[in-house]
Amino acid sequence: MPIKACIFDAYGTLFDVSAAAREAAAAPENEMIAENWERLAFDWRRKQLEYSWLRAITGAHRDFWRVTQDGLDWALDAQGLRDPDLRERLLALYWRLSPYPEVPEVLARLQRSGIATAILSNGSPDMLDAAVRSAGIEALLDDVLSVERVGIFKPAREVYSLATTRFGCAPGEVLFVSSNGWDIDGAGGFGFFTAWVNRTGEPQDRLDHPPHEELRDLALIPDIAAAI
Ligand code: LAC
Repeated sequence: MPIKACIFDAYGTLFDVSAAAREAAAAPENEMIAENWERLAFDWRRKQLEYSWLRAITGAHRDFWRVTQDGLDWALDAQGLRDPDLRERLLALYWRLSPYPEVPEVLARLQRSGIATAILSNGSPDMLDAAVRSAGIEALLDDVLSVERVGIFKPAREVYSLATTRFGCAPGEVLFVSSNGWDIDGAGGFGFFTAWVNRTGEPQDRLDHPPHEELRDLALIPDIAAAI
């Protein structure tokens, strides 16, 4: 079935979630994280995701900005860091994370081939809007879909249905791209064709719906979309 829409996860897929801690660590006033910024970034992301899953399971939804702050507070606490300026700096950087270098060209190629492009993300609408603007990719996306429209985080099924409803297509006409194995599983279970962007060579998750394609970056996505 030809692909009508290529749908991207945002954080970790289009935008580099480690960039906030990496950039903050490079500033002389944040010398306290110069050595351990990678651990900080890892814990921040891990807790942010854990909190999103737990809030989805228990029905205690709070938006992604809240779980992003809660995850950071846990990660700072784990290193005994209690510096309000550092906290504010890291949170501010999260609103303008760098996109991966190949992102603009990949989106432009998809658009040129007549395939709709969109983000489908746990991010709140204002966070996603800021990230998209700061990356300068607004014109390369047909839409930015936030889970806030359904009030539950991925991998809840109703989130994935936002994409099929928006583009008026069947799940099998969607190519879904994510760097998160659990998101690939959720999207594959919904019926999307899935591409896992595995930049760091992680092992595959032991879940029910393995990715249809596995890639090191996004560069081949337009070719994959054209070949389905
Ligand atoms: C997102 C996170 C989960 O953008 O990566 O939805």
